[in-house]
Amino acid sequence: MLAVVPPPVTVRVPAKVNLHLAVGDVRKDGYHELATVFQSLSLTDEVTVAIADDPGVEVTGEGAESVPTGASNLAWRAVRTLAAHVGRDPDDPKVRLVIRKSIPVAGGMAGGSADAAATLVGLASLWRLDIGRDGLANLAAKLGSDVPFVLHGGTALGTGRGEQLIPVLARHTFHWVLAFDRRGLSTPDVFDELDRLRAEGDPPRVGAVEPVLEALSSGDPRQLALLLGNDLQAAAVSLRPGLRRTLRAGVNAGALAGMVSGSGPTCAFLCTDADAAVRVAAELSGAGVCRTVRVAQGPVPGARVVSTDESP
Ligand code: C5P
Repeated sequence: MLAVVPPPVTVRVPAKVNLHLAVGDVRKDGYHELATVFQSLSLTDEVTVAIADDPGVEVTGEGAESVPTGASNLAWRAVRTLAAHVGRDPDDPKVRLVIRKSIPVAGGMAGGSADAAATLVGLASLWRLDIGRDGLANLAAKLGSDVPFVLHGGTALGTGRGEQLIPVLARHTFHWVLAFDRRGLSTPDVFDELDRLRAEGDPPRVGAVEPVLEALSSGDPRQLALLLGNDLQAAAVSLRPGLRRTLRAGVNAGALAGMVSGSGPTCAFLCTDADAAVRVAAELSGAGVCRTVRVAQGPVPGARVVSTDESP
């Protein structure tokens, strides 16, 4: 009897923005203690996982040329991690990944983490694993600090190194404009720069998180705009001074507030509503301060299967 090969599985996964990012002390393991509020955005990557005799990773779309396709690719590490966890051979998992990117690479929006989360969900379906979301979340945390959040989606408070999540009530939709920079920034470099700035002086620190949670539950973007804050912003701007101009241009274009997303260099602008976001995006595009502008809304669901291709 012929073995039936399961059809490829495609998973859609969101980018994230940190509405509030408080960076604490460096821990013994080298990570910084964080208190952050994540929101998932409608800017998404798609990952297709398929059984294949020629295993590997293929990447297309936004920034594809700068994504490694070898062993260092985080999505491929997700394949190996899940294979080992379920007793398959991590050196010969017989799986092929196709990653279609819209999330900027090294952009501070958890693009690589998103692809890893999507791969976990896709493989769990392809291999028909009885693993559950908690099991996947544990593996996600091993792969990277942001992977559990993009697996989960929505809006959540993250603590520890960002991997411990508590869902946050945010029934309202918020409208964002995103400005992609010409080149990415390395997350470790930005954390190192913050350590350097703190050793030398006293860069600004975000306030308490509670008012951010209240603004989220009120759904009022004007209230939330006043409270957006990111301790990594000073470090990202120090490494990429041109971001100051981008941040100013977004506010001049009519955004309620702008901030560096995570470790940057993407800038995220909160807008009053969907129409305002389209207007801000158009004006920002013409300002010549960034490579590409996108409109997105949040929160959206985390990594989820969108299709299983039944064709051969
Ligand atoms: O967890 P992840 O591998 O995505 O983190 C990338 C890098 O970002 C870490 O190697 C570390 O330099 C920095 N980081 C940190 N503290 C965190 C999260 C990330 O210093 N809480």
